[in-house]
Amino acid sequence: MSTILGIESSCDETAAALVTSDRTILAQRIASQDEAHRPYGGVVPEIAARAHAERLAPLIEATLADAGMALDDVDAIAATAGPGLIGGVMVGLVTAKALAMATGKPLIAVNHLEGHALSPRLADGDLQYPYMLLLVSGGHCQILLVEGVGKFRRLATTIDDALGEAFDKSAKLLGLGYPGGPAMERLALEGDAKKVPLPRPLKGSDEPHFSFAGLKSAVMRAKQSGQYSDADIAASFQQAAIDCLIDRARRALASVGKVNALVVAGGVAANKAIRGALEALAAEYDLDFVAPPLALCTDNAAMIAWAGVERFALGQSDPLDVAARPRWPLDPEAGAVRGAGVKA
Ligand code: KG4
Ligand code: ZN
Repeated sequence: MSTILGIESSCDETAAALVTSDRTILAQRIASQDEAHRPYGGVVPEIAARAHAERLAPLIEATLADAGMALDDVDAIAATAGPGLIGGVMVGLVTAKALAMATGKPLIAVNHLEGHALSPRLADGDLQYPYMLLLVSGGHCQILLVEGVGKFRRLATTIDDALGEAFDKSAKLLGLGYPGGPAMERLALEGDAKKVPLPRPLKGSDEPHFSFAGLKSAVMRAKQSGQYSDADIAASFQQAAIDCLIDRARRALASVGKVNALVVAGGVAANKAIRGALEALAAEYDLDFVAPPLALCTDNAAMIAWAGVERFALGQSDPLDVAARPRWPLDPEAGAVRGAGVKA
């Protein structure tokens, strides 16, 4: 059995976790920076990097203490090496390198997206490759065929905004604050999803991708018209987002061979209406539906440690001069899409 220390610092969560190969999370700590970024309505990279630098080392110490372990007890040190905000990624990766150098333990440079993509296997020991993953968060909006460690086919990505980003921007337009997703979901419960006519960008399109920028603009026009209640706008927005997601997932399912499960991960997977719609889709295709617990869906270090567990089991590690990568696609074969270029 192996025990891996995982470190995550690619966006606005500073996190450390200890995870074993038998799927036990021995300890995990997350320091969220929501408060620091709230006045700006989004993550400010410079503020994030400084906060990681201040918090990470004590957080790792506390995580080890929670588990009653010393660094010597871990088998390897895994850290996010990208993609993400480069200042934060460097803080985490350089810290991991220092620990690896000081202890002589192997370093495992983890792709943050691989962390998300494999995390369902930490939560569910029965989940076998290949499975289809919808990765939906503030920074990511992809459909991936997950075939194994380091083996991914990107079936779809967004040509503009990520789904969580659309939730956040629409929430901001309604004056709901940041992060907007949970607030939009709450408000949507009080509204009528049929009240506001909103577009379903790319629904039914031959190309496989997502687009949410037009939906956000339509939310802005609906708000400015003064014709609708905020709750009706929120409910209609959420329904439009769900319709797009389901349509794109159907197209992706039709484009691949048999998969073992439909899996959703990323912060937007917290949304109960979205989970429900995906669960119904999975049932229709006779697929298992896996949605990891929320704490594993949003950015966290247990998923990074788990990706480390899977790589360590295959005998993989990285040299101490491994680079931090602001961009690091999971599927190098997948080309750029029109309009893309802002998101990982
Ligand atoms: O995975 P995550 O914590 O960070 C990254 O973006 O990588 O995801 C955060 C995103 C935010 O955009 C947030 O608004 C969205 O997930 N989110 C939600 C909900 N909870 C979080 N979106 C819709 N409904 C929710 N309940
Ligand atoms: Zn993430």
